[in-house]
Amino acid sequence: MLAWESGYKIGEKDMDAQHLVLFALLNQIDANLGADLAGECIADVVGALEAYIGYHFAHEEALMKSWDYPGLDRHIALHQRFSADLARLQIEVGTGQARSAALKLRTFVLEWLLGHIMESDADYARFIAKADKARGA
Ligand SMILES: [Fe+2]
Ligand SMILES: [Fe+2]
Repeated sequence: MLAWESGYKIGEKDMDAQHLVLFALLNQIDANLGADLAGECIADVVGALEAYIGYHFAHEEALMKSWDYPGLDRHIALHQRFSADLARLQIEVGTGQARSAALKLRTFVLEWLLGHIMESDADYARFIAKADKARGA
């Protein structure tokens, strides 16, 4: 069970909330992997995670764009590379050993997400906070 921690927050309320939902979906993968009878539903949970990641990336990219964040293109490229890797892992869940593939996918998503949130997402959040302050001054 993954716990959501205050250290994961970047200070952008909506994005923090979406990141928390991503954690909750990763926990749902854990719950299904741990339940003997739920193996057949793993692909459903992985599908929901993949769909929500797409939703989150679209929102995040629109937010960065609306603030003219200078690192937008680089950030979008990171999202795209990750999405391509995720799609490959998702195919494995649907075609091969669902449980071991889901575990691999879960570990990959968790590690990428933590690093990405703490570095890349935190960077645009700092930029927006600064720009917002300058705008208000
Ligand atoms: Fe991001
Ligand atoms: Fe994010």
